[in-house]
Amino acid sequence: MWFIIICLTIFIIKIVHDWQRPRKFPPGPRGLPIVGNILDLKRLVDKMKFYSHAWCHLADIYGSIVGLKLGISEPLIIVSGRDAVIEMMSRPEFDGRPNGFIHRHRTGGKRRGVIFTDGDIWRDQKRFILKTLKEFGYGKIAMEDIILNDAVSLTSIIESSAKSGPLTNLYDITSIAVLNSLWTLVAGTRFDLEKKNSKLMEILSIINDIVRNINVTGGILTHLPFLRHISPGLTGFTALNQRQIRVFQFFKNEVTKHKAETHGELRNFIDVYLAEIKKQSNSTVSYFDEEQLISVVKDLFTAGVETTNNTIGFIITYLVVKQDVQRKVHEEIDRVLGKEVLPRIADKNRLPYLNATIAEVSRLANVGPTSVAHRATTDTVLLGYEIKKNYTLLANLRSVHLDEKHWGDPKKFRPERFINDKGEYVEDPWLMQFGFGRRKCLGETLAKNNIFLFTACLLQKFQFVLPPKHSNPELDGIDGFTIAPPDISIIAVKRA
Ligand code: HEM
Ligand SMILES: *[C@@H]1O[C@H](CO)[C@@H](O)[C@H](O)[C@H]1NC(C)=O
Ligand SMILES: *[C@@H]1O[C@H](CO)[C@@H](O)[C@H](O)[C@H]1NC(C)=O
Ligand SMILES: *[C@@H]1O[C@H](CO)[C@@H](O)[C@H](O)[C@H]1NC(C)=O
Ligand SMILES: *[C@@H]1O[C@H](CO)[C@@H](O)[C@H](O)[C@H]1NC(C)=O
Ligand SMILES: *[C@@H]1O[C@H](CO)[C@@H](O)[C@H](O)[C@H]1NC(C)=O
Repeated sequence: MWFIIICLTIFIIKIVHDWQRPRKFPPGPRGLPIVGNILDLKRLVDKMKFYSHAWCHLADIYGSIVGLKLGISEPLIIVSGRDAVIEMMSRPEFDGRPNGFIHRHRTGGKRRGVIFTDGDIWRDQKRFILKTLKEFGYGKIAMEDIILNDAVSLTSIIESSAKSGPLTNLYDITSIAVLNSLWTLVAGTRFDLEKKNSKLMEILSIINDIVRNINVTGGILTHLPFLRHISPGLTGFTALNQRQIRVFQFFKNEVTKHKAETHGELRNFIDVYLAEIKKQSNSTVSYFDEEQLISVVKDLFTAGVETTNNTIGFIITYLVVKQDVQRKVHEEIDRVLGKEVLPRIADKNRLPYLNATIAEVSRLANVGPTSVAHRATTDTVLLGYEIKKNYTLLANLRSVHLDEKHWGDPKKFRPERFINDKGEYVEDPWLMQFGFGRRKCLGETLAKNNIFLFTACLLQKFQFVLPPKHSNPELDGIDGFTIAPPDISIIAVKRA
């Protein structure tokens, strides 16, 4: 009897103790024992509709460093405002990534790949990927030709489908085109966009599977992971697991195919990676193996396709609503390129207004509104607050993109803010849609080239308008791990 009472007392003291915030813990809502701020956050996100809006709201109340406790997982620290974001992302002790159940599960139960690894594995993989993609013309003319080819196919697909009324599947078409250039780099096969292709559709549905079903904070399976044993169905674990197996199997088959086909020649990323596995097979520590390769390929698709696709979707959505801006882009393209000459990357400098429009959409749409989660790798102090090892940190990029003191009228869509007196595009270091520091996006060049060439090609040929009586699109988009543009129908009018 006494034993039980003592145990209970200790248990209660422990719960209350955990509930207390450490003295220098960043400020934030107090929350409840055990579940912490899970309910506060749910209420706030229900009200604000977007996780990133909730982060900005919390920053307004508590300041640039906000601390949340979500269940038994490590505290979540939201870092807002440019100074705090830069400080956090510049310091190597914040270069880690969380090592939760969910993060390991997505790469077959172990830490693999590049997005959610850290330390030596991550450094070696990131370096290798950047080097290899560069060899395959990432950021060079060869890549540009591949993208242009797809962009031209895309315009002709749009032209023929526009004959039968408003386009409702525009984004599907753009995502296929975006996918194609990445697939070409990684697997070496190009798909003819003008033919229906079941393999391509399969990849697309795989990508959708990956991206549309996760939350920035990791969801219930991160905060209370043991619940999956109690209710695999309700926590979503069963579905997640099946999805995981399907995705892994798909990329595994691709790797197996490459292994059978290559006879020493290095035709694409997978070939080069397979060669590296062989080369390192004798060394005592090697981070290169087949599971690692599958995870890396999966990571590139997870990180690359949706973000680029959504950005292009947002550009079209904004231009459909802001016809005056679209008219200026048209005028610039007509003046600089005319109707026939295809746009090239080299033309970026001659198309400052288009450049500014893309930048302004990136600033407002916030397709990746926070960084991917970071992890503190040691106990440290950030702007006076104590950050313990393993705390999770999110850089609130949206707070930088909408900072009133810097932009003046941050809510307003105004590409001119990126244009100087001489009519030139000026870069603004407050725009950091690809993140900052060593963890910065690895696909920035590819994404920028894709977005620029697709947008230029589409706008050279078409004017995009809403069908009559279409409701005004919700420019905030749809929340998820990335933010997606709203579902709308569009009429593509061929320009004379
Ligand atoms: C408009 C398109 C894109 C946007 C807005 C974007 C944005 C971002 C952001 C904000 C991060 C996180 C930085 C951090 O955690 O501090 C990131 C990481 C990453 N991105 Fe992108 N990205 C885009 C396109 C791409 C593409 C096309 C690829 C692949 C070819 C790619 C691959 C990656 C990878 C692998 C990481 C993880 C890097 C690391 O953990 O070290 N991204 N991206
Ligand atoms: C993600 O968050 C939304 C909104 O809070 C919720 O409705 C959804 O079930 C969550 N999804 C997952 C996979 O946790
Ligand atoms: C690995 O080591 C063996 C014997 O030490 C050698 O014969 C082989 O060529 C090496 N393989 C590679 C890929 O370096
Ligand atoms: C691209 O974006 C559209 C619109 O949000 C979406 O319907 C489509 O599934 C996306 N494709 C991919 C591969 O993410
Ligand atoms: C367009 O933007 C890119 C960076 O996004 C920059 O490198 C390029 O110089 C810009 N072009 C113009 C017109 O200045
Ligand atoms: C941090 O996480 C790792 C692995 O998840 C664990 O081994 C380590 O004990 C944790 N350290 C602290 C201080 O919580």
